[in-house]
Amino acid sequence: MPDLPVRSTVNPPSRRDFLKTTSVVAGGALAGQLAIAPGAFAAGGDVLKVGLVGCGGRGTGAAAQALNADPNVQLTAMGDAFSDRLEGSLASLKESGLTAKIAVDSDHKFVGFDAYKQVIDSGVDVVLLTAPPHFRPAHLAYAVEKGKHVFAEKPVAVDGPGIRSVFATSALAKEKKLCLVSGLCWRYDHGMRATFDQIRSGAIGDIEVIQATYNTSTLKKFSRQPGWSDMEFQLRNWQHMVWLSGDFNTEQHVHSLDKVAWAMGDEPPVQCTGSGGRIARTGPESGNVYDHFSVVYEYANGVKAFASCRQIDGCSNDVSDHVWGSKGTCDVFAHSVNVGGKTAWKFKGKKGDMYQTEHNELFAAIRSGTPINNGDYMTKSSLMAIMGRMSAYSGKTITWEQAINSKENLTPTSYEWGKAPELLVAIPGVTQFV
Ligand SMILES: NC(=O)c1ccc[n+]([C@@H]2O[C@H](COP(=O)([O-])OP(=O)(O)OC[C@H]3O[C@@H](n4cnc5c(N)ncnc54)[C@H](O)[C@@H]3O)[C@@H](O)[C@H]2O)c1
Repeated sequence: MPDLPVRSTVNPPSRRDFLKTTSVVAGGALAGQLAIAPGAFAAGGDVLKVGLVGCGGRGTGAAAQALNADPNVQLTAMGDAFSDRLEGSLASLKESGLTAKIAVDSDHKFVGFDAYKQVIDSGVDVVLLTAPPHFRPAHLAYAVEKGKHVFAEKPVAVDGPGIRSVFATSALAKEKKLCLVSGLCWRYDHGMRATFDQIRSGAIGDIEVIQATYNTSTLKKFSRQPGWSDMEFQLRNWQHMVWLSGDFNTEQHVHSLDKVAWAMGDEPPVQCTGSGGRIARTGPESGNVYDHFSVVYEYANGVKAFASCRQIDGCSNDVSDHVWGSKGTCDVFAHSVNVGGKTAWKFKGKKGDMYQTEHNELFAAIRSGTPINNGDYMTKSSLMAIMGRMSAYSGKTITWEQAINSKENLTPTSYEWGKAPELLVAIPGVTQFV
């Protein structure tokens, strides 16, 4: 979880009148006299109400960043599957000095599987979607249907039906001129932006090969407590359950795959071939996710991206990306380009706090009425990850077309605090691609 930045801006809680005014004025003859685009909020004027769905580590961080992004923002509603998570998040936000911007009364704390609807229907302007990835397509669809601006954490789906839903919702958000900012945070890092500008503008020539590695230690686990149903046990350990997280190559490694996609101008790969397995994960808390993957993505122009990830303790960790081109190479995290054995370019500017930049740009876009829509790349990068999992699980080469049309649906038959989905570990060569 990122550190919570502290800022003590006092926020006068006046609102709504301006909203009424803009909606009347925007459609009328006076619109042209105001320097405000239709649907925009007055710069620094009206209070923007924010709702948080999924009050865990990232959600708490995102809420703090939203509150720090604009002088007139208030957190007014929170929703989580569990009340202890919601209360913990609220306490942590208050401790970080943001009390003046928090107006979440007991009627605006929502708990359970439908909490997202209650948050979205509570009169908020902006929704932060930070529940486990499985829920993102439904949460996003409802938020956009109800006309909300959205910050959506990565990945945005765990299966083909979810991906197709998010593609459709992203298009609807564009049509409705709503902001849709993705939590694929490296796209908001100034050093990365400059580095990918170098790659995309030909500093290393034509791309030939990409390496993307995400090797880290294992995940936190939560022991089963008396009174927990199977569903609660799985939800508490969501990162280990394929139906909830999409597996860790999707939940975490999507960051690396998104950088591959960025380098390739967001052109999708034609196909991928992956392998993987589960050697070191033990115990029921570890669910059914793998602990290592290695996937080769192939592009129409012959470029290959070698992507691997591992979550096993006691091993050498490495989170790095390199791009080789016809003229030179780029060490992505070092923000440097090497041509002919010499450093040809190195980023020397300020990187900024990418998590804060996401929200600064989101709220500035809402204020100015010039929507940001990250829907296309956030959905394609999530599908790249899912297709890698599909290939590793089945042991088969999977094409982009197959992945995007996949009928595998990881949604359980019902969301209830009782039985939970059966957890099967995929076996390459036996598990079928659906
Ligand atoms: N961009 C980044 O750098 C980054 C970093 C960490 C996590 N994330 C992403 O953020 C999301 C949340 O991760 P986290 O680390 O905060 O996990 P977390 O477990 O700390 O938080 C998730 C929260 O969602 C709640 N929840 C579960 N089901 C829910 C539902 N149906 N409705 C509402 N709330 C529900 C959980 O109870 C929990 O409080 C994930 O998609 C993850 O991949 C992104």
